[in-house]
Amino acid sequence: MLRTLESELGRGLEAFAAATSLEELESAETSVLGRKAPFSEVQRSLGALDEKERRDLGRRVNEVRERLRTEIAARRDELRESMEASLLEGDRLDLSLPGRRPRAGSLHPLTLVENEIVEIFLRLGFRVVEGPEVEDDWHNFQALNIPEDHPARTMKDSLYVDVPGHPELLLRTETSAVQIRTMQSQPPPVYVIAPGRVYRRETADATHLAVFHQVEALVVDEGITFADLKGTIEAIVRGLFGEARRVRLIPSYFPFVEPGAQVGVSCFRCEGVGCRLCGNGWIELLGCGMVHPQVLENCGYDPERFTGFAFGLGVDRVAILKYEIPDMRLLLQGDVRFLEQFGATA
Ligand code: FA5
Repeated sequence: MLRTLESELGRGLEAFAAATSLEELESAETSVLGRKAPFSEVQRSLGALDEKERRDLGRRVNEVRERLRTEIAARRDELRESMEASLLEGDRLDLSLPGRRPRAGSLHPLTLVENEIVEIFLRLGFRVVEGPEVEDDWHNFQALNIPEDHPARTMKDSLYVDVPGHPELLLRTETSAVQIRTMQSQPPPVYVIAPGRVYRRETADATHLAVFHQVEALVVDEGITFADLKGTIEAIVRGLFGEARRVRLIPSYFPFVEPGAQVGVSCFRCEGVGCRLCGNGWIELLGCGMVHPQVLENCGYDPERFTGFAFGLGVDRVAILKYEIPDMRLLLQGDVRFLEQFGATA
């Protein structure tokens, strides 16, 4: 029995050390300490021995069991630790791998241009105001010196809004209506710009859209002259396009100014020679003039004391000139390949 005990101790120690997983260790434990194992048989047959033999052998049985159990516990800890380590190793993140960068969006070229225009005006001391896109007949036409039977109405080809009981509502044809709303809301002096969307029943082409954007400027104060208008326009055009582009003013008619002018910038494509894009070498940028005394009077200003100038700048025109965009319709198509060329992020 003693021999069996010693050889089982040796076998157990070997089997526990050789186990490479918790399952192997468990089956080694069953085979060495289980009910059917030789060790248990020795334990069971202790009862048949006389007292002295039982005491001696019993002590050794206890020692061997203790030793085997300690070894099993130690090996179990070892195996658990190495299992955890290999799990951790498998889950390890490679922090040196470059991440997947989310694609950043960018501001639309029209927003970029409008922001730039607004910034130049703010530097000149102007204030930004806004007006509604759905206007009434009085603000869009009558107060701007365009009575009901005026031919200038037909030129605009307006889009009326179908609101029962309000036949006078239309999508504003220009930002000039904001001139009226501003003057009605405050006494002079006025130095404001009004950026916004305008609508006309136009057929879109390379330089025209039916929905486009303008920035209206209005100045009313004592002693304002045409020289102030010209100086302001030159400052804006120089700020936007640099010194290279030529600017021309030609007389033009707008019912709400007197005198009035169109401002053109030399075409970026043909440098002013004339091409398919511009026609005659110039791209029309804005309409302007000295505020008509009747308009000042319509808003309760004294035209004997105050004079002013106004202009309406086409933002989409500035965009195609500045970025040399061959067709204005590209601005509305939402093609990512086009838009991502203007990579300034928000
Ligand atoms: C006007 O709208 C006047 N309200 C401008 C004005 C304001 C004159 C204050 C005097 C005093 P006009 O229709 O010319 O004018 O348009 C002004 C500018 O808007 C044009 O010079 C052009 O740059 C732009 N524009 C006009 N029509 C279109 C269009 N269909 N598509 C894109 N831009 C346009």
